[in-house]
Amino acid sequence: MPHLKLGLSMFRMGYHIAAWRHPDVPADGAMRLDAFLRVTQAAERGLFDLVFLADELAVRGSDNPPGAQARSGAAAELEPLTLLSALAPLTRTIGLVATGSTTYSEPYNLARQFLSLDHLSGGRAGWNVVTSWGAEDALNFGHMTVPDYDTRYDRAAEFVDVVRGLWASWDADAFVRDKATGLFHDPAKRHVLEHKGRCFTVRGPLSMARSPQGEPVMVFAGDSPAGRDIAARSADIVFTAKQDLADAKAFYASIKERLPAHGRREEDVVVMPGLMAIVGRTRDEARAKLDALQALIDPVLGLASLYDRLGDLSAHDVDGPVPEPKDPAFRSRAEVMWRLAQREGYTIRQLYMALASGRGHRVVVGTPADIADEMAHWQAERAADGFNVIPTHLPAAIDDFVEMVVPELQRRGLFRLAYEGPRLRDNLGLFRR
Ligand SMILES: Cc1cc2nc3c(=O)[nH]c(=O)nc-3n(C[C@H](O)[C@H](O)[C@H](O)COP(=O)(O)O)c2cc1C
Repeated sequence: MPHLKLGLSMFRMGYHIAAWRHPDVPADGAMRLDAFLRVTQAAERGLFDLVFLADELAVRGSDNPPGAQARSGAAAELEPLTLLSALAPLTRTIGLVATGSTTYSEPYNLARQFLSLDHLSGGRAGWNVVTSWGAEDALNFGHMTVPDYDTRYDRAAEFVDVVRGLWASWDADAFVRDKATGLFHDPAKRHVLEHKGRCFTVRGPLSMARSPQGEPVMVFAGDSPAGRDIAARSADIVFTAKQDLADAKAFYASIKERLPAHGRREEDVVVMPGLMAIVGRTRDEARAKLDALQALIDPVLGLASLYDRLGDLSAHDVDGPVPEPKDPAFRSRAEVMWRLAQREGYTIRQLYMALASGRGHRVVVGTPADIADEMAHWQAERAADGFNVIPTHLPAAIDDFVEMVVPELQRRGLFRLAYEGPRLRDNLGLFRR
């Protein structure tokens, strides 16, 4: 088996909805360089391929039930590209991947920003391409609503082609800078894009030398057929959120089978599902870590996490049964939740606790061996080439993973003992043909 690839998603100092209230978490960490540096250095010590920053272009979410918004840890965080640029000189080998929106940016700006990060970091940058689905994002860019799905995806497909075209503006040896002859660049090695498409007209070339790793790494996280197609054409890495093995296998197969149509091989794309690993030296210790976080969930936030599917439950006893959904507006989305509560005998509190931690990702609570078993099984079953680690809270979750799970994976021959090289593509083993 090839070695697993590992990413760490370090958004907001953790994904558990009560993360910011945990005594070990700096409550203002998402606004602090030193907090992100501490986390990134831990991941680098653990030989992770990359750290990853998700992004939203608004304070998302409604205040339902009232008071929920003021209790969420989501309203204060640093801008990803700026943050990763600050981390670049303070780290050596780990990849630095930021999210960038194709809906609310222009290809020339974005191509320039990511290629700058790539140069500043010596070839360690990656771009997570998103089309930004949030209704609140649209309101910050002159739209009343989110542009419709096809509009966003048409724009995304062209956007990605333009960015990659701009990144190819110069051959690697175009800048001769010969002081004796006075020649700065070789004009034969300059490629003017001259793009004229439906959404963009971009002449080029980009005012920047070629990437130290050929091209920054391209990451996609879309799930729809359009999202999968665009990934098959241009992705190096695909992130996904899959809770069960059968879904993950189907997703993996659907990405890999799309590749030949684009002249690409299976091994050209790394599929990385999210994995929330809550690890302890014993299963009881792991469980206790999760329980400590669960106890910190403010009931208003717990109810808010159910609001979209079950409506406002604040008039009900949180330790009583989940009421049968009556409102037809909620009916279909509510049914899955309600049936789950029925099957497990969950109260309202138990239901939101069951959903609170993983945010749609696979959650495994156990010993290092339990976590490694699960990762090995998903790899062997062709559901994953690696994992994007989704921490409950930081820095504790990455410290635990690096101290306990990484050595276990290494012992089994599933993970590297040293970085393969200085650039992100060296470690991913992904150079474009
Ligand atoms: C692991 C992962 C990370 C994501 N990160 C972001 C993000 O940072 N910002 C964002 O707006 N959307 C993010 N998304 C949403 C996706 O880009 C995409 O909009 C969503 O999965 C729906 O995909 P589809 O529109 O192709 O169905 C993420 C999705 C996944 C699975």
